[in-house]
Amino acid sequence: MADRLKIGIVGAGAAAQWYYLPGTRHWDDRLQLAAVCDIDEARAKHFTDEYGGTPYGDYETMLRWADLDAVAVLTPHTFHAEQVMMALEAGKHVLVEKPMTERFEDAQKICDMAEKSGLHVSCAPPNMLHPGQRRLMELISKGVIGKINMIKISQSSMGPGSRPGAPTDFSWFYAAGAGGMSSMAGYGLVRLTGLLGGVKSLSAMATTSMPERVMRDGPARGTTVAATVPDNNVIVFDMGNNTLGTMDTGYVVMSTEAPCMSLFGSEGTIEVYGGDQVLRIRLYKDDWETDIAGWQDVEIRGLDSRWALHPATLLSLADAVLDGKPLLNGPRQLAHVIEFMEKVALSAESGQRVYMTTDYTPPRWDELPLEIRQDRFGLA
Ligand SMILES: NC(=O)c1ccc[n+]([C@@H]2O[C@H](COP(=O)([O-])OP(=O)(O)OC[C@H]3O[C@@H](n4cnc5c(N)ncnc54)[C@H](O)[C@@H]3O)[C@@H](O)[C@H]2O)c1
Repeated sequence: MADRLKIGIVGAGAAAQWYYLPGTRHWDDRLQLAAVCDIDEARAKHFTDEYGGTPYGDYETMLRWADLDAVAVLTPHTFHAEQVMMALEAGKHVLVEKPMTERFEDAQKICDMAEKSGLHVSCAPPNMLHPGQRRLMELISKGVIGKINMIKISQSSMGPGSRPGAPTDFSWFYAAGAGGMSSMAGYGLVRLTGLLGGVKSLSAMATTSMPERVMRDGPARGTTVAATVPDNNVIVFDMGNNTLGTMDTGYVVMSTEAPCMSLFGSEGTIEVYGGDQVLRIRLYKDDWETDIAGWQDVEIRGLDSRWALHPATLLSLADAVLDGKPLLNGPRQLAHVIEFMEKVALSAESGQRVYMTTDYTPPRWDELPLEIRQDRFGLA
């Protein structure tokens, strides 16, 4: 096997420009950018001129003619399922941006296709690869805060295009097939299920609080966009073992200084800050035996911002394909997450508590390979 993974990117928008194209350059010892495809072929060419590879305006043509080991699917959400399946059918490994699919049924199909073919599907968001997640897994598995009884997750933003800095037209994020939950919930749910396993049941309310959005930057600057899917979701969930949680997710939060996740245990509290990533962990202990009382920061080794975020999914894919290492951000966890999102919509519409049909068992901290426990995905 070659020592570099040949990648074709489909969708040369913001995520490609901000994260993945620079990622292929940063890790050019492991990744080789072989092709970029976008329905706007001039945009694809603009980036192959800068980063290398061959430009394509048609996905099928890229799959047929480009010499690729893997495809990175970075298109709007409605295209993910079909483009992932096409790549697998063409014998390519895949990276797929969040959410893996719109529909749970498609997510399961992709898991089955990958398992049958022996191809890898590396899924965003890459929280399982982040140094902060590994630190949380270590703290929980060592029982530092005892048995976890209650969880609070806040995974909301004001949505793409709501602040300056949009390189493309982000209007589609508010329309059918996308929406606040599809875009945001995955970060919190991967973090949660990676720590504590699958969710058993949930009950949700969803509404559209801001039916009209004004795009603040990019090609759509100044235009008003209709939000046609709920932008405000509040969920109560049951993890089993008498552990309950709440979660907000959507596009109605301009900013917050609240933790993105709080874990309330029998022996203490952990609060996690950082939104998409784990940037800061605070621990409360009140331990008369060791005389530790009060709040303290927990060190996160290898903490970095950009490289620890999205393109780490490409590096983990290269490690899995080239070196046979376990893929920690694989599709079964994400299928569970997609089912959760689908069940939120079902519960909100029906007003009923809804039970999950899939479960997920995260890797144990002490089973993780040593190099994954260290700083592989940080810049350090
Ligand atoms: N914008 C963000 O902040 C952000 C951050 C992380 C991840 N993501 C994820 O990245 C993915 C892409 O989002 P984005 O922000 O880059 O969107 P974008 O609108 O900036 O880019 C999408 C690109 O895909 C192209 N495209 C559309 N349909 C296509 C098709 N059928 N075939 C080929 N190309 C097609 C568009 O021309 C555009 O260049 C989404 O899954 C999103 O959730 C976005």
